[in-house]
Amino acid sequence: MQIISDIQQMQSLATSLKREGKRIAFVPTMGFLHAGHASLLREGRRRGDVLVLSIFVNPIQFGQNEDLDLYPRDVERDCRIAAECGVDIVFTPDAAGMYPPGFQTGVTVREVSLPLCGASRPGHFDGVATVVAKLFNIVQPDLALFGRKDYQQLAVIRRMVLDLCMPVEIVGMPIVRETDGLAMSSRNAYLSQEQRRSALCLHRTVVAARKMFAAGERRVDVMRKAAQETIGQEPSVSIEYVEFRDGATLEEQEIVDNATLLALAVKIGQTRLIDNTVLGEEL
Ligand code: PAF
Repeated sequence: MQIISDIQQMQSLATSLKREGKRIAFVPTMGFLHAGHASLLREGRRRGDVLVLSIFVNPIQFGQNEDLDLYPRDVERDCRIAAECGVDIVFTPDAAGMYPPGFQTGVTVREVSLPLCGASRPGHFDGVATVVAKLFNIVQPDLALFGRKDYQQLAVIRRMVLDLCMPVEIVGMPIVRETDGLAMSSRNAYLSQEQRRSALCLHRTVVAARKMFAAGERRVDVMRKAAQETIGQEPSVSIEYVEFRDGATLEEQEIVDNATLLALAVKIGQTRLIDNTVLGEEL
């Protein structure tokens, strides 16, 4: 496994791999890998000739009051996991290389970025779209894999790739959960034992909503109230949003269907957690 920090070196290696006809599979991450990332890497390994993992805590997707400095990092451990998953190249650029003095270009994906997490994290998805566009230009992947836990991020990236004719297949991978249902996230590391227990209300809400849908309920107001009540049973959890939206456009709906996304965001102490499900989707 090769570890490359230099942007030009990564880009020229990718160019020569492509010339040799190699199919590059790419998993962009901010590191602190968990089983969710491992599932992306294993699928990437299966689909590509060369598997590239990037680890870069992207400063421009963090807001002023967010946890950039505190964001968990452990590159050594990440490299061990990467090796176990069959990664060929770990790309670890630094912020000075990615955003040199004078940097002034960004990618904005408009409507899809605005609701849900975009409403409380203005500029976040501009930062994500910009860094992913840059990483795609450097790594030149044939396919890139993203977790569906960050559903809106995936929708933003799909839209960007479509709108800007980027020659990259985007693969959305199912949410990986702990045995008790908590969706895997690097931010789970911040939770105390008690907070972690409270966080299970997210999965309970997802399960209950899917049951209501399977039993025939279609009214968003009824389903939203039930979801809010389930989360409300945990006094230490504050709701940021409970939303039912079209799974592709993220537009609001009054009546749900198979493709409706239930998206949840809560705060437990200082930690912000998200979860989601597409109501009619087989798990
Ligand atoms: O999901 C993440 O880890 C990040 O948002 C991404 C896609 C690597 C961009 O920095």
